[in-house]
Amino acid sequence: MEKVIHTVLHAGLEKPVKILHVTDVHLVETNDRDTEEHKALEIRRRAIFRAEGNFPPYTQNEYFEEAVRMAEELGALLMVTGDVMDIQTQGNIEEFHRIIDGHDAMFTPGGHEHQRICRRTMEEPDGYWIGSRQKLKDAFPEFDMDFSSRIINGLNVIAADNSLDYFNAETVRRFKAELEKGLPIVIFFHDPIWDHMLNVTEPTHPNVQLTPEDYATSHEMIDLINNHPLIVASIAGHGHVEAEKVVGKNRAFMTPGLYRGACRLIEIV
Ligand SMILES: [Fe+2]
Repeated sequence: MEKVIHTVLHAGLEKPVKILHVTDVHLVETNDRDTEEHKALEIRRRAIFRAEGNFPPYTQNEYFEEAVRMAEELGALLMVTGDVMDIQTQGNIEEFHRIIDGHDAMFTPGGHEHQRICRRTMEEPDGYWIGSRQKLKDAFPEFDMDFSSRIINGLNVIAADNSLDYFNAETVRRFKAELEKGLPIVIFFHDPIWDHMLNVTEPTHPNVQLTPEDYATSHEMIDLINNHPLIVASIAGHGHVEAEKVVGKNRAFMTPGLYRGACRLIEIV
């Protein structure tokens, strides 16, 4: 790994918790079950990520394998927040499985897990996203694509999907149920909480036909993440660079893309 960012968070735990956060791996694999278009696209994308990452000495696949090993050696929970696959190819699905299968991890998707080409999902034809989402769920039944949580040493670790720039109503309902447990929470998702698209108040995704009510629910969750006293921090990816802010009353972090050889080791004490 070229850079491991060390972050210490205070939650008043009796026993500390370690989480290794990796995000935006952008695997660019294809195989003989993929289209010629996908094969050509991922060859072009491979060159882009090499250049963006300033030509790191290892591939994103190797950094992902290293992160899996590192989490196990450190006794850290591996948290993966999306854009593992650059686009939804058979090659990427199989490579993600090859690296993660048999290892413990939590996962929440990014926008790229749903993409067939490098275009925002909202620009796709009606119904595209629903089909793409179902393919993702079918390919990785071991992960709950909407919401997951795990209590470790009295810390509630949550992964919530906001890959389409909002939190759906079911996710918000489940998040509120977690708040009821009264434990300190570190919450992970793909888009950082300050992301402009996450904070718009009008429906902007005709592809999934969101209503103003969906946005109202999503904004209720954003307010809770930013201001609720049980939230220790929110941690995301998406931007591919390192960032840290205070949003509302709470701390928020963004971890760089793993394709650059960077990840974040969080110690919650
Ligand atoms: Fe990304």
